[in-house]
Amino acid sequence: MADLQGFVMRFSTERDARRLEELQRGSWIPTVTPAGPYQPRRFFDHHRPDEVLVAERDVLPIGYIVVRRASQMASHAHVAAIEGLGVAADARRRGVAGALLHAAERAAAARGFTRLTLHVLSCNVAALALYARHGFETEGVLRGEFRLPVGPGGAMTSVDDILLAKRVA
Ligand SMILES: CC(C)(COP(=O)(O)OP(=O)(O)OC[C@H]1O[C@@H](n2cnc3c(N)ncnc32)[C@H](O)[C@@H]1OP(=O)(O)O)[C@@H](O)C(=O)NCCC(=O)NCCS
Repeated sequence: MADLQGFVMRFSTERDARRLEELQRGSWIPTVTPAGPYQPRRFFDHHRPDEVLVAERDVLPIGYIVVRRASQMASHAHVAAIEGLGVAADARRRGVAGALLHAAERAAAARGFTRLTLHVLSCNVAALALYARHGFETEGVLRGEFRLPVGPGGAMTSVDDILLAKRVA
């Protein structure tokens, strides 16, 4: 696919598994996921390669996004969900996530989806700013949905689960 700002955007292959697991592990922190301590897991046990876009620099994936059908229900067939997004810590604030989001939107539209949704934690300031900048709107808030150690000194804090959405065409 495209070569943008020094990196190449492409769909993943099974050969990316180890690097994608590293990137996923690097983002597995309480401000990002409510899932608790990282449990090693095989990336492609949970995602198909054609549901994952990677941004690659010097032949090394530096970020990824998972975009796939939100569910198998026929009534839901127009909706794609972003179910994972991460950029290597040393590659952040250079537009990688923005380019991944843009590519995911184009891929979703090309596959006939008209709506893109995702969940984000209210404590994930970086991701909230990113999605707002890219035109996602808040459509729902589950207040106090999680209690996570994200307060001062790791204090347990009540965190909202925010549902964002954007129309794609
Ligand atoms: C959130 C994340 C994906 C952003 O990746 P990135 O490549 O650094 O993002 P970009 O460089 O494309 O940023 C685009 C815009 O998003 C916003 N943004 C990104 N990181 C931000 C931060 N730490 N603080 C505030 N705003 C931020 C800014 O508006 C930024 O534009 P700017 O740099 O011109 O100010 C990255 O920080 C990350 O991997 N975090 C851990 C995983 C995660 O939170 N995933 C989302 C789960 S819902």
